Amino acid sequence: MIEDQLLKIRKVLPSDIPIMHKWECDDEIGKLVGIEKPRSLNDMVLGYEKYFDGLKLNLNLFTIEYNDICVGRIELGNLDKENNHAAFGIVIGDKAMQNKGLGSFALNYLLNYAFNELKLVKIYGEVYDYNIASQKFLTKLGFHLDGILRKHEFFKGAHRDMYQYSLLREEFI
Ligand SMILES: CC(C)(COP(=O)(O)OP(=O)(O)OC[C@H]1O[C@@H](n2cnc3c(N)ncnc32)[C@H](O)[C@@H]1OP(=O)(O)O)[C@@H](O)C(=O)NCCC(=O)NCCS
Repeated sequence: MIEDQLLKIRKVLPSDIPIMHKWECDDEIGKLVGIEKPRSLNDMVLGYEKYFDGLKLNLNLFTIEYNDICVGRIELGNLDKENNHAAFGIVIGDKAMQNKGLGSFALNYLLNYAFNELKLVKIYGEVYDYNIASQKFLTKLGFHLDGILRKHEFFKGAHRDMYQYSLLREEFI
């Protein structure tokens, strides 16, 4: 069991990048989150530069910390202020910490931020057809399966079906 008081969500810091790079290089995680080829650490640092310089206004990145250790990341991207929706992404990169409730806690935090602070009307995300754990995860959190985008993404040598999920503000309790 995890202890709630050891669990914290905070803004991503440049010092988190090396550990996040380790997750990016993990084949198993990469296949679930859509990493075709991991970047070098240096390229990843450069990739985050604009975000840390405040130039990516449609992106919000949060670190999931347990016992002061960075164990995951959750993000709100493609923030569309005209239509009031955004996409989410989540990874518990420390595999020993998966399936212990951290993802549920973090996604609820993000939904609260999105619906109650940013006043968005919808949050959505896509999951690979073979990512059954994530499909169960999102269903458990009340997400709606909007549809299956057939052969939507060419990834790891095959055209993959993507399951598109969303949650509306009025569905968030
Ligand atoms: C998907 C992910 C974010 C879920 O976070 P988590 O902390 O592991 O999940 P939780 O412990 O909060 O689990 C909540 C529910 O998700 C489902 N779930 C989580 N891990 C699962 C697993 N390995 N197998 C089957 N179902 C699983 C279950 O329904 C679970 O509820 P239960 O405990 O009552 O059975 C996490 O496992 C992860 O980072 N996976 C790899 C990256 C990924 O797939 N990202 C895409 C996310 S859309």
